[in-house]
Amino acid sequence: MKRVLSGIQPSGQLHIGNYAGAIQQFVRMQDTHEMYVFIASYHALTSMRDADALRANIRQVVIDYIAFGLNPEKTNIYLQQDVPAVTELAWLLSCVCPKHMMDKATSYKDKVAKGIPSSVGLYTYPILQAADILAVDPDLVPVGEDQRQHIEITRDLASKFNHYYGDIFKIPDAMIRREAGVVPGVDGQKMSKSYDNTIDPFMDEKPLRKRIMKIKTDSLGIDDPKDPDTCTVYQIFRALAGPDAPETAALSDRYKNGGMGYGEAKQTLHEYILDHFADARKKRIELMDDQSYVDSVLKAGAEAANKIITNVTDRARTAAGL
Ligand code: ADP
Ligand code: TRP
Repeated sequence: MKRVLSGIQPSGQLHIGNYAGAIQQFVRMQDTHEMYVFIASYHALTSMRDADALRANIRQVVIDYIAFGLNPEKTNIYLQQDVPAVTELAWLLSCVCPKHMMDKATSYKDKVAKGIPSSVGLYTYPILQAADILAVDPDLVPVGEDQRQHIEITRDLASKFNHYYGDIFKIPDAMIRREAGVVPGVDGQKMSKSYDNTIDPFMDEKPLRKRIMKIKTDSLGIDDPKDPDTCTVYQIFRALAGPDAPETAALSDRYKNGGMGYGEAKQTLHEYILDHFADARKKRIELMDDQSYVDSVLKAGAEAANKIITNVTDRARTAAGL
């Protein structure tokens, strides 16, 4: 079985873009892969300074992942602060990382341009990410397109370390999922918590409906035939239901035939979301009340991850002469 590792920053409420672009894939891989999914809490410190909000987000992301269908019996879920050896590994890697490698990384510049305060932690973020990955010896790292460069850096750092110290790290492959595409938000731009355009599938029914009704569309009338591929409502529907689903084809036909207004398309999307996430919404309410279950999941996840991480870190430390 191939081993898979991925991480998610607990920096805000998960949305339909995260679900369709990343989470759904983890859920599908659980039966065929050895899975490690962690909450990148140390990474979140590069952009969050509100300790209470961070604590709450960390918990919420774990609950939401389980609610979305990540099964702790199959997937090891853990918090980054429960595997602190990764910070030691990050140091070992930073000592073989040429400074220009970080200068070339684009996410630092992008984040500072977005208003995230500059810090050394933000600057060396990719080294910590490389440590998260290499520490678990994974074969595959499923991530979004935006993370491609970080996986390249991880591979480069692993090769450099191996070059100096012998065959210590396995070189993992990125697994970048294109077919989900970029899910647009209510304003038609990429759905992202930084743009205030997200749809949160756990919202109460009424505010959820209001949010969906806000999706921007053009001004064609009810009877006009419409192009589904340029409509945000349809794009969100397709990302959730899948491009090959009969429901997606049926909705596409209704656009093309005319006779359906955008209000009705939005109504269809609202109903689809409530139905698609019905189990997740129910499960989330149960989990919110079951702190001890969530604690036990995280404890077991950290134990499993630490077994590998301690081993890999020992190997790297000894190889380096310590
Ligand atoms: P955000 O842009 O809201 O800050 P993140 O950068 O935390 O989201 O993304 C977490 C995961 O979700 C990544 O794997 C990313 O590729 C995926 N993702 C985020 N937004 C979208 C989107 N609009 N469409 C598809 N995938 C997305
Ligand atoms: N940088 C990733 C993001 O913003 C989160 C992350 C941290 C990660 N460490 C990782 C993803 C290791 C995959 C593997 O989405």
